[in-house]
Amino acid sequence: MTMSQKILQACPLPPPLAGKLPALCPVETLSDAPDQAAFLREHGAEFTVLITTGTQGADKALIDALPNLKAICSLGVGYDAIDLDAVRARGVMLSNTPDVLNDCVADLAMGLLIDTVRGISASDRHVRRGDWPRVGPTMPSTRVSGKRLGMLGMGRVGQVIARRAIGFDMEIRYHTRSAKPELPWQHEPSLLALAQWCDFLIVACPGSPETYHLVSAEVLNALGPHSYLINVARGSVVDEKALVAALENGQLAGAGLDVFENEPEVPTELLSNDRVVVLPHVGSATRETRAAMCELVLKNVERFVKEGGLVTPVRL
Ligand code: DGY
Repeated sequence: MTMSQKILQACPLPPPLAGKLPALCPVETLSDAPDQAAFLREHGAEFTVLITTGTQGADKALIDALPNLKAICSLGVGYDAIDLDAVRARGVMLSNTPDVLNDCVADLAMGLLIDTVRGISASDRHVRRGDWPRVGPTMPSTRVSGKRLGMLGMGRVGQVIARRAIGFDMEIRYHTRSAKPELPWQHEPSLLALAQWCDFLIVACPGSPETYHLVSAEVLNALGPHSYLINVARGSVVDEKALVAALENGQLAGAGLDVFENEPEVPTELLSNDRVVVLPHVGSATRETRAAMCELVLKNVERFVKEGGLVTPVRL
């Protein structure tokens, strides 16, 4: 006998998505349960689909508590917060929301780069504090156009960032595990060499055990006192303690960060540093892109419920 489908939402989802799910099959929200462990013990076996987000993820305990789980549909392109070993071991299918967010994450990366290097947020604070009439304008900043851009990661988002950077006459090189000969930019097999070469290093690779702390103290040191780090990928890729130290010791000119190691916590040393721009992980957060991401999750859930497959499956 085929089991009927039932969805568990790991957390509250945006209304355009949450509002349309009940038309597909019954839905319950785990975070609504006053005692989530008790809820899972009593109802865990009823659910075949789990919907989560890139930041909420799904740990082994949750996956284990859903013995009839067949598919996880995640809102977001990154799935590092989902326990992939548990997903593989259980033979569960997984979908994410690739491509629809490339433009907005790339736009934000360029905005964060320009803000950090030209000191836009710092200058805004300067004016608001009333310092302009008192001490004059802020000190000259650093030129953006025509500089050397190093890309750590050259996937879907990285390529869109690189195309934007061409408009700023930047010379581009990238570091990935293997070269992509179809791309017009030079591959740099050594991240350290890329850091030594570039003026700006943009992190745009997935968060994973393989990329954990790739931007180490050594890489930050190789970047040097006139270079800037921009991270729109995952906090885990950068050794945050080493970053704080590099900024405090003047080994790095500045950093623009949309992501952190322990979100939503941001080290106080970063908050109090005027050469750092901090954002609350909003790379994909435009109304248009979030709507497109919700639509893609909905299409995945619908395909699964009706046909047993997914529209954008993650190859595990
Ligand atoms: C993602 O989709 O992984 C982004 O980080 C969400 O903003």
